Amino acid sequence: MVTAKAHSNFALIKYWGKREEVLNLPAVGSISITLQEIFTISSLMFDKSLAQDMIEINGKAASPQEAQRVSSFIDLFRRLGKITAAVKVISRNNFPTGAGLASSASAFASLALAANQAANLNLTSSKLSELARMGSGSAARSIFGGFVEMKIGKRSDGSDSIAVPIAGKEFWDMHVLIAITSEKQKEIGSTVGMKMTAATSPYYPQWINTNQSDLKEMRHAIQNKDFEKLGELSELSCLKMHAVALSANPGLIYWNSATIDCMHAIRNLRKQNIPVYFTIDAGPQVKAICLKGDIPVIQAELKKIRGVKRIISSALGPDASILEDQL
Ligand code: PMV
Repeated sequence: MVTAKAHSNFALIKYWGKREEVLNLPAVGSISITLQEIFTISSLMFDKSLAQDMIEINGKAASPQEAQRVSSFIDLFRRLGKITAAVKVISRNNFPTGAGLASSASAFASLALAANQAANLNLTSSKLSELARMGSGSAARSIFGGFVEMKIGKRSDGSDSIAVPIAGKEFWDMHVLIAITSEKQKEIGSTVGMKMTAATSPYYPQWINTNQSDLKEMRHAIQNKDFEKLGELSELSCLKMHAVALSANPGLIYWNSATIDCMHAIRNLRKQNIPVYFTIDAGPQVKAICLKGDIPVIQAELKKIRGVKRIISSALGPDASILEDQL
């Protein structure tokens, strides 16, 4: 068995929309941070004695839909390694699955690393990022730690639609507090949500048109360690993504009332000169981006909000890696 660990990430400049669906090519670039405290560990082996793939996620047999998604992903590696054997996969997240905490990002990145080693492929990190992208767009970014940019790419084979590291986790001591407002699975996943948005939102072309300048400004903010700029751009990209999703038909509402209360609480903290900014993905959890020294006061404010069930506190995390111990 080969075991790999990949950390989840979330985007400061959001990915929402695909330019091609089979290879899962993004219509926009994105910039993310990888998180220390939320991750997936996956153990995997190819086994000729198995009649079919055996996939266990979070201690239970995978649903037919999940199993199909994982098997198709492993097929990419079977093809490259000319392997015909079935696979045994045991995968575990240390956080709720499918609720806007990017479980697919860390899951597919960990599977990519483990499958690469189990199939003796010796692929580069860039190639693993390309393959991880086919599991889920955000998974391409979880191959790397710290600050990461996902390139849109131009080629039709997707070989340049890959993530590249911008700066390691040591570069900047940034922190994230994640307010969990619901542990339920979301109703509309990102793939369907993106498709509905692209097909029906009158604002979608504008969302695409403003992406390049958002990316450029965010790269500068990171390079110059300009926290205020980074935070403002993150909130803007988040609100733009939700605005375009809300304007799909029917509109996509990923928030609950606690999500909105957290957004206001974060803006109120800023009025008290505490630098903290929010971002939210395709789910109801709120990620507060802050600097280390301000964690206690922000945590105390978020805890007061009705509907905030718990708070995960995380520093920036490392590259995905192979572990010695099995699950
Ligand atoms: O990786 P996917 O296909 O689940 O899409 C992720 C989309 C967002 O989380 C909403 C934004 C992002 O850039 O991570």
